[in-house]
Formats: sequence, C-alpha cells, structure tokens
Amino acid sequence: MGTATVAVECRGVRKTYDGSGQQVVALRGIDLDIHAGELMMLVGPSGCGKTTLISVIAGILDQDEGLCRVFGHDLLHMKDKDKLRFRAANIGFVFQTYNLLPSLTAAENVSIPMILNGISRQKAQRRAVEVLERVGLAERTGSLPSELSGGQQQRVAIARALVHGPKLIVCDEPTSALDHETGHRVMDLLKQVALDEDRALVIVTHDARIFEFADCIAQMDDGQVVKVVRSSGPS
Ligand SMILES: Nc1ncnc2c1ncn2[C@@H]1O[C@H](COP(=O)(O)OP(=O)(O)OP(=O)(O)O)[C@@H](O)[C@H]1O
Ligand SMILES: [Mg+2]
Repeated sequence: MGTATVAVECRGVRKTYDGSGQQVVALRGIDLDIHAGELMMLVGPSGCGKTTLISVIAGILDQDEGLCRVFGHDLLHMKDKDKLRFRAANIGFVFQTYNLLPSLTAAENVSIPMILNGISRQKAQRRAVEVLERVGLAERTGSLPSELSGGQQQRVAIARALVHGPKLIVCDEPTSALDHETGHRVMDLLKQVALDEDRALVIVTHDARIFEFADCIAQMDDGQVVKVVRSSGPS
C-alpha cells in the first residue's frame, strides 16, 4: 500500500450540537483517511459520534471546525447547488432509519438517485427493478414502504444508495434488521458494486457477523477515532 489514493480525508473535524440549551460535543477532532478501493467499518459505542461523522463526510451536516474532503472536494465550502449536484452524482447514503419516501413504491424510491442524475423514468425503473432483484426483493418492487418489513425496507434503502454507482457509499447500520444470510448477500452486493479503485465504502456497524467484509476497521470512542486497523497491514 502506501500509494493508495485517498477517497475521504478528515483533519481535525469537530462538531458540537446545540440542542435545547445543552451543548453536546459529538466530534472532538477527527483525523481519518479512507482509501479508494477500501471498505471501512466504523465501530464504537452508542452515542460516540458515528452517525455524526458519516453525516459530515457525506455533506449532510456541516462541521464546526476542520477539513473534510471527498475525492478532493471540500463539501463545506461548496455552493449549495454544487453540493447537491455533487452529492447526487457521487454519494450514496443509507440512513439508520432508512428514510424511504412513504408514498413511493420500492422501485420508485430506488429510482430517485437516477432521476436526479437525469436518467429517464423508464430506464430508471428498469434498473431499479434489477437492483431490487439482487437484494432479494424481486416480488416486492411495487410495494409501498409501509407494506414492507423492516429488513425489506432496509434493503430498498441499500438498493437506492448503490443503484447509480456512486464513488462513495456510506451506510449507517445496513444489516441491523437482516438475518445472517440476507446480511451476507447484501454485503456481497455492496462490496461487488462499490469497490473498485475509484470507489470507497464506509459502513457503521455493531454487527460482528459482517466484520469479515472489512478492509479496515476504525474504532471510535467519545467523539474520537481511537484506533484504525487495516487488514493489509498497519498504515
Ligand atoms: N441533532 C442532535 N442534537 C443534539 N445532540 C445530538 C444530535 N444528534 C446527535 N446528538 C448527540 O451527539 C452524540 C453523537 O451522536 P451520534 O448520533 O453521532 O452517535 P452514534 O455513534 O451514531 O450512536 P448510535 O450507535 O446510538 O447510533 C450523542 O451524544 C448524541 O446524543
Ligand atoms: Mg448512529
């Protein structure tokens, strides 16, 4: 290694929430590199800042201090319009709570990123159905989220995050509602679709059953990254 391209670069990233009169310091100076071609898992106790960190990385939340670059782009200082376009084209995000649009079917939900990128509705629908088949939902492409189980909704959210081939896929607990076999199937797909030299994948997880898929495990505690272990050796 050593020459690996950096997909995501965080330096001194700090974030404090100012909720209902109480300040919570969620990130206390994060330094982290995610290499292109790498599947990084982010682990750590509840409340340690995992969701906050991946939200900053994905440009969903602005940090208070520090630098975060995604494939060389500093999202914090981008104009809103450019940031939206960059995110739509390059980042897939699986929310801890799925965030599916309730009035759209599974296939329509999965079509959204493609439509945002200018692909025709018809073509998007076809491709959405293909990806839904790959996550085991061939029979449910026309169902609304409310008609799906938690694990099925989670798989729709995963299909939506990867359908447009984004350079960075960020997933918050993507296998929490899945049984062992379905979890492995989804991880196989994520790894296959997401990983080549131009892409990277970050997965927040408590699920030890999927650690085997990681190239790198970053451990957080109390707003900091305390340890990074790469399977290719220390770096
Ligand atoms: N919108 C918010 N307003 C105020 N505090 C928040 C907000 N979001 C998160 N926090 C706080 O920031 C800290 C980090 O939260 P975060 O959601 O990043 O943790 P997490 O590691 O993802 O936890 P979990 O494993 O439970 O999902 C926690 O103390 C949390 O209470
Ligand atoms: Mg979280």
